[in-house]
Amino acid sequence: MTVLYTGIGELVTNDPGIGDGSPLGVLPDAAVVVDGDRIVWVGPAARAPAADHRVSWGGDAAVPGFVDSHAHLVFAGERSAEFAARTSGRPYTAGGIRTTVAATRTADDGRLGAGVARLAGEMLAAGITTFECKSGYGLTVDDERRACEIAGRFTPETTYLGAHVVPDEYAGRRDDYVDLVRGPMLDACAPHARWVDVFCERGAFDADESRAVLTAGRDHGLGVRVHAGQLGPGAGVGLAVELDAASVDHCTFLSDADVAALAGSRTVATLLPGVEFSTRTPWADGRRLIDAGATVALATDCNPGSSFTTAMGFCVALAVRHMGLSPGEAVHAATAGGAAALRRSDVGAVTPGRRADLVRLAAPSHVHLAYRPGVPLVREVVTAGTRYVA
Ligand code: NIG
Ligand code: FE
Repeated sequence: MTVLYTGIGELVTNDPGIGDGSPLGVLPDAAVVVDGDRIVWVGPAARAPAADHRVSWGGDAAVPGFVDSHAHLVFAGERSAEFAARTSGRPYTAGGIRTTVAATRTADDGRLGAGVARLAGEMLAAGITTFECKSGYGLTVDDERRACEIAGRFTPETTYLGAHVVPDEYAGRRDDYVDLVRGPMLDACAPHARWVDVFCERGAFDADESRAVLTAGRDHGLGVRVHAGQLGPGAGVGLAVELDAASVDHCTFLSDADVAALAGSRTVATLLPGVEFSTRTPWADGRRLIDAGATVALATDCNPGSSFTTAMGFCVALAVRHMGLSPGEAVHAATAGGAAALRRSDVGAVTPGRRADLVRLAAPSHVHLAYRPGVPLVREVVTAGTRYVA
């Protein structure tokens, strides 16, 4: 069955060959034809072919479904008291991860799954049609395995993050924990994961420990991603590029050598403005990365500690206000950028052959995502051809 979406006042395609020739590929007065879960035609509404069904979007703007390449959704509990303490000056140290680990270990699978379902629902309402989901709040073989399994019920983009922090029971025995993470824990998690990730930061894992975990994951067939440069500069960005990681995330503190390495690589720099907002840390310099030629993605990093948001539109607005991106660059980063960070060529753009993921905005232009910060502009979402009306 084919569906013609027409009356699209402004369509962001992310195809530079379409429309205005910019990377955003903006087409006015556009239409899209969807067959099942795929896009089969994109062009001016006046030249649209006939279809089985016709839906008019009344002149509203539409963008590709957002691709959220960084989220930690499998957890129990919440940390609003920690957030509130930061408003009176307490710094973010990532130490609160242990609070969430304790809550997560005592929660049963049903409760963890219900938590992911609730956040996945929020994401869809926010226009996110593809999301990644990490483990990392279990930190035992069994708790990490079940976190990966539960994540896999909601998304194929599951990430094994046993190397989030060293749990309390391994205090003073960190080498033993690294051996567990790259040994039995990896064996248990790899069948349920697509990616391996490491928190490469002072207070978490150093470069040698991170390399050991990431290369072991790679040997199990997992793709590589890295958390780095969140709390301070370090070796994580260089390591990510060295290992051809799909993405290195946070990138708040970068040396000139880090920026040059990213620009000369396939590794995407994923920026997480919700973290900067929630932890009151400096803003990552997205302008510097784009000007150097790096590929930039925007993601929510939805987690209970550093960024408890699924609001990708708000992240777009923050990146425009604080990271030096134009509205078009920010929308591109939240769609095509996220797809690149997940090495996906089937999502992140509105072109024939791609999955039919579209967001109808209650606005005449994608610029409104930044121009009207915090306003729920997502009016309708099409995900793999299925329509959800807000
Ligand atoms: O991406 N940086 C490490 N991990 C998460 C935060 C986790 C937490 O505070 O619970 C992040 O920001
Ligand atoms: Fe994270």
